[in-house]
Amino acid sequence: MTTVGVLRETASRERRVALTPDGVSRLRAANVRLLVESGAGRAAWFDDGDYLAAGAEVGSREQVYAGSDVLLVVRPPGDVAALGAGRVLIGLLDPLGDPALAESLAAQGVTAISVDLLPRTLSRAQPMDALTSQANVAGYKAALLAAEAYGGFFPMLMTAAGTTRPARVLVLGAGVAGLQAIATARRLGALVTGYDVREAARADIASTGAAVLELATAAQASADGYAQRLADDAAAAQLAALDEVVPRFDVVITTARVPGGRSPLLVSEAALAAMRPGSVVIDLGGNVAGSAEDTRTVTGRGITVIGAPNLAATVPVAASTAYARNLVALLGSLLREGRPHLDDTDEVLAAVLVCRDGAVVHPRLRHHEREIR
Ligand code: NAI
Repeated sequence: MTTVGVLRETASRERRVALTPDGVSRLRAANVRLLVESGAGRAAWFDDGDYLAAGAEVGSREQVYAGSDVLLVVRPPGDVAALGAGRVLIGLLDPLGDPALAESLAAQGVTAISVDLLPRTLSRAQPMDALTSQANVAGYKAALLAAEAYGGFFPMLMTAAGTTRPARVLVLGAGVAGLQAIATARRLGALVTGYDVREAARADIASTGAAVLELATAAQASADGYAQRLADDAAAAQLAALDEVVPRFDVVITTARVPGGRSPLLVSEAALAAMRPGSVVIDLGGNVAGSAEDTRTVTGRGITVIGAPNLAATVPVAASTAYARNLVALLGSLLREGRPHLDDTDEVLAAVLVCRDGAVVHPRLRHHEREIR
């Protein structure tokens, strides 16, 4: 019988866990043995007793490494050298962002599967789509974080003492996270405007009822639906146009990303300098001048900039529950009679398989153009 291990996350401020007790029950029903590292779910309020009750065994990290055929993580473990040859590692490994990790996993003989490589448009893969499930959580939290940091109301409120004006919120990048930020800010009553470089995303924004910001920047989407990096002159024109627009808003939430490449700069120092005191910028995508991971910067003029690249980790119950369901769905397709069956003629597996038998096998990594990030 295959043993699936669940490791405690080692990245700083990471509160998610790769498999919840509910996920354990689902995999037990598929005739799999589960071995969970003690404390793996604690930061998401799933304790060892919950895992035991669901049918898992609980052990030390060493026991999980030694006793598992398949290891589940959210993010790459800090101690990858402990993995050992022949093991299957499944997680959000970001091999396009960190090709060196893929090389080192291959060198150890680990089979690595990265769910962030899943083709988004393949309908069979949608229940496994962890990028979507986590982006959805992050977009929701971005709107809450913005509302909390903002000194005014989001909604228009009519009180005996007069009417308050609603907050004006601009969401830049309207993929999964951006659309959820738009929807959540609208539920809180803000006046929301969305913008994306892709034409299709502009229709998505309109369907939420938010206003659509139109800039002259040409849409650049690749066949898989992702945005492509803009040419330097188009990016400069986009930034100049946004410099005019951004200061009109009280709250700006940025979520723009280009897969495997550097995130576009959308909010410049000039735009920040022109914003009104009390304005709030939440940066999920790495799109704001000077914002850094996990920092809250209040510029000299009273502008709060919050760099928030991993907001899903701050909603650990919802994020872990969704992620665990994604992994259960993936394992459901990879396991045959309780054993991993790595059939690379399967289009889902071929898309997510990073390395196997000592070699990096993913086509986008074998021909990876190392971009300067
Ligand atoms: P992402 O996290 O890679 O990027 C976020 C957003 O930033 C995207 O909408 C992108 O167009 C936008 N962006 C990139 N450069 C920009 C720029 N210079 N200015 C403004 N916006 C910029 O995107 P995400 O959320 O992962 O979605 C990627 C694609 O996958 C989208 O086409 C989405 O509709 C599609 N998708 C399809 C699904 C399905 O068919 N089931 C599920 C989830 C996503």
